[in-house]
Amino acid sequence: MIIAIGCDHAAFTMKEDIKAYLAEKGHEVKDYGTFSPESCDYPLYGEKVARALAEGQAERGILICGTGVGISLAANKVPGIRAAVCSEPLTARLARQHNHAQIIAFGARIVGPDTAKNIVDAFLEAEFLGGRHARRVGQIEEIEKKNRELQQKESV
Ligand code: RB5
Repeated sequence: MIIAIGCDHAAFTMKEDIKAYLAEKGHEVKDYGTFSPESCDYPLYGEKVARALAEGQAERGILICGTGVGISLAANKVPGIRAAVCSEPLTARLARQHNHAQIIAFGARIVGPDTAKNIVDAFLEAEFLGGRHARRVGQIEEIEKKNRELQQKESV
């Protein structure tokens, strides 16, 4: 699977660890940075990974910052992207099965290395279940559509 990964300084070490873990499992990992533990701003990396997913350059995304919150908020600003922040594997699996999340986010200051790997495994192994969940995900997409229409009206 082609996986896009990104992080900020708080998660640099964990990102490197997860990258090695994914490579060992035979995945192709596209690393969107950051590339050192030097202080940086998480929105940049959240956006880069989200755009990679939106443009079809990767099949799944992984984002890590201190808590997973900031970087997922940034990713969710890219139209069509569903980035779910979680701290344990069950939420990661359900984010995929029920919410059709393309990106999983977690915090290097919140979860340890083993839990991080369990979250990644749960997310990568799960597939979207469709059915009633598709209707609800469709309703999320409708909100984006309404926002676009409102913006277009305002710009006339
Ligand atoms: C950086 O100190 C920290 O704020 C960031 O990694 C993240 O936790 C934000 O949500």
